[in-house]
Amino acid sequence: MLPSLAVFILAIVEASVVPQGLSFPSLEGCGKALPDGQSTGVVSNVTIVSGGNQRNYLISIPLSYHSKIPTPAILSYHGGVRTAEQQLLLDQLTNPEFNTLSFVIYPQGINNTWQGVPGVTTNDVQFTSDILDQVQSLYCIDPTRISVTGKSDGAGFCNTLACDPTLSSRIAAFAPVSGAYYIDTLPCMPSDVCIPCHASRKDIPLLAFHGGNDSTISYQGGERKNECLPAIPHFIQQWAVRDGLGLHNVTTPVSSNTVSYKYGKGYEFGLVEHIYDAVIGHDWPSTIPNADNQVVGHHLASFNATPIILDFFRQHPLNFFDLIKGA
Ligand SMILES: *[C@@H]1O[C@H](CO)[C@@H](O)[C@H](O)[C@H]1NC(C)=O
Ligand SMILES: *[C@@H]1O[C@H](CO)[C@@H](O)[C@H](O)[C@H]1NC(C)=O
Ligand SMILES: *[C@@H]1O[C@H](CO)[C@@H](O)[C@H](O)[C@H]1NC(C)=O
Ligand SMILES: *[C@@H]1O[C@H](CO)[C@@H](O)[C@H](O)[C@H]1NC(C)=O
Repeated sequence: MLPSLAVFILAIVEASVVPQGLSFPSLEGCGKALPDGQSTGVVSNVTIVSGGNQRNYLISIPLSYHSKIPTPAILSYHGGVRTAEQQLLLDQLTNPEFNTLSFVIYPQGINNTWQGVPGVTTNDVQFTSDILDQVQSLYCIDPTRISVTGKSDGAGFCNTLACDPTLSSRIAAFAPVSGAYYIDTLPCMPSDVCIPCHASRKDIPLLAFHGGNDSTISYQGGERKNECLPAIPHFIQQWAVRDGLGLHNVTTPVSSNTVSYKYGKGYEFGLVEHIYDAVIGHDWPSTIPNADNQVVGHHLASFNATPIILDFFRQHPLNFFDLIKGA
């Protein structure tokens, strides 16, 4: 199925009928040959200068890629003390069993961590924006289908992006896993701490996973690294309120020990969703062994987060007006 909005915009751009002064999102990369040494179905390691630092990211080009078809892209942020390569192994988003349609980009954090973690001074919002500029100029990326996920500190950074005035309208959907959502305030009241957010739209799709037996980033929140972690239900409820969905959720079972809480009504139903597994730890939920669930005291989950994330991204592209805002 062709992403019709992007194809429509591509047609406008090609016909050069864009009114002057209107900024259209980039389809600059469409029609270009792949950079030297890169091919579909292969992961490349790319360096980029951002904020005066030499940075790098891994990029996986989907097997199905065609340079004239706008293609979705997912950015996936590794956890603290981990690397881009480890995130690629953990999230399984490049596994053809789950995904053959989307680019997957793995940014590498300076000192293996991200902006938003206490003490980190790196500008990773700028880094993300620089990566998007680069990939959108080199490949035919569908500007309505750029989404982000991440684990732990990387999930916290997904929330930083969702709350950024510019990138919240450039990125379509957000799926943090076992997120560390640090807030710089003490004393810490996890269930009613004020969560700062400067999103530029009120229809942000967010799907958050968290385990009830997470001993690193507690489900109940609390003080950590001299900052405050919100209770996960409070964090989710605040997103539901910000998106104007209200506090009511529809609770449905996902698998044993796991439920989904969905907020919103009508076409907005499920715009904010939380998947809670009562028994897993600080893990990327998976029914197959991974670097998280093989740690002593951890165990396999009863479901896979990865296909649920991919479905959520498929269901939540950016609409035309948000797209113009983020351009
Ligand atoms: C990618 O390149 C960077 C910088 O050259 C290097 O530090 C890193 O180890 C490489 N990553 C992989 C997975 O090859
Ligand atoms: C990375 O860690 C080194 C060694 O601890 C430190 O000197 C440097 O300032 C850190 N870089 C950033 C951007 O935080
Ligand atoms: C969802 O609603 C149920 C029933 O009212 C409630 O028990 C539960 O705490 C809610 N979940 C969240 C995450 O707010
Ligand atoms: C919860 O995690 C601890 C280790 O942090 C482990 O010993 C315990 O078995 C886990 N409980 C469940 C229900 O998995």
